[in-house]
Amino acid sequence: MRLVLTHIARLLMVEYESRELVAGADMEKMHVRENAWLTIEDGLITGFGEGEVALLMDDEVLDCSGGMVIPAFCDSHTHLVYAGSREKEYEDKIRGLSYEEIAARGGGILNSAALLSSISEQQLFEQSLPRALEIIQSGTGAVEIKSGYGLNTKDEVKMLRVIRRLGEETPLAVRSTFLGAHAFPAAYRPDPDRYVKLVVEDMIPAVASEKLADYIDVFCDRGFFTVEQTRTILEAGAKYGLVPKIHANELDFSGGVQVGVANGARSVDHLEFVAEEEIGVLKKSRTMPTLLPGASLFLGMRYAPARKMIDAGLPVALASDYNPGSSPSGNMELVMSLGIMQLRMLPYEVLNAVTLNGAYAMGLEKTHGSVAVGKTASLIITKPMPSFGFMPYAYGSSQIDRIILNGKIVQDV
Ligand code: NIG
Ligand code: FE
Repeated sequence: MRLVLTHIARLLMVEYESRELVAGADMEKMHVRENAWLTIEDGLITGFGEGEVALLMDDEVLDCSGGMVIPAFCDSHTHLVYAGSREKEYEDKIRGLSYEEIAARGGGILNSAALLSSISEQQLFEQSLPRALEIIQSGTGAVEIKSGYGLNTKDEVKMLRVIRRLGEETPLAVRSTFLGAHAFPAAYRPDPDRYVKLVVEDMIPAVASEKLADYIDVFCDRGFFTVEQTRTILEAGAKYGLVPKIHANELDFSGGVQVGVANGARSVDHLEFVAEEEIGVLKKSRTMPTLLPGASLFLGMRYAPARKMIDAGLPVALASDYNPGSSPSGNMELVMSLGIMQLRMLPYEVLNAVTLNGAYAMGLEKTHGSVAVGKTASLIITKPMPSFGFMPYAYGSSQIDRIILNGKIVQDV
């Protein structure tokens, strides 16, 4: 049976020839169909056009009554599998401690690791599932989720199994990333290279033997993993087919962009510290620069220079970084608003960044992130809006009316 969407005021992100990503000046451009319809069969988009559609006897019709239709969000960087929460640390921060000072005291990532090791895989799943369901209700259809709060082989594997299960038991398209190199456990502080050895010799083979990860990540930044350590880990991952998607340049100019690109990273993420050199390196690559403005908002830190990057011709993806320490929100409508308010991106640049470019950043650009025949029917129907720019502009109030994932209407939006 077909599902037919009718009376779509504007159908956005339309493609006749599929693109991998959108870069530079093209990010401001948008292919739109006015007063449109769209058909869905077996979970896929099968057609769309303008004006009236010829309906068949047993079509299920969904009248969009003047709302717009956009692809569901592609959130390419999250850590939404975690235990407990860290709002107490935020109070420490209000009292004046920095993110790095909190981490140095055994707070931060190590605090989350201690909480995670104290619960079972089933409990971790039960704590994480509501967050996955929450992002579905917020319009996300595809998501990348990282490990990195295990920091030992057993708990990293536990996290990755939970990530896999979220992909199996929810309608989300899930990509998983192994982030054993997220922080040094206290016991390894005197000899951090010993931890790198554990990641390389024990964790990576264990993760690969269960095929638990698509990507490999390293937190390459001041006070965390050095460029040398990052290279060692990425090279070890490559032997098992793990493609890099790394954390770089959040706290300083770390060399993370360079080592990521040199190792064929699918994306390099954060990039609050980016200058001409990094832009030049990215320009010569196929790596997606991914910005996480929610972390800048929550930590009160600088924002990535999105305008400079796009004006230099680069593509940009935006993601939520949903995690307990630096961005406890997976709300992509808020990320879009930060895109216009803080990154000075234009509304259509933001839409490209949270859909097709996000899909590319997790290797899902062939199936997700735009409206094209044959792509997965994961779509957002908005409330009636005067223009698309209203969606990020009306920050804090959702413009989502209905959500369709894999061709099925999501209930209770
Ligand atoms: O992307 N920067 C490193 N990792 C996360 C934060 C993790 C945490 O504080 O729990 C991030 O911001
Ligand atoms: Fe992150």
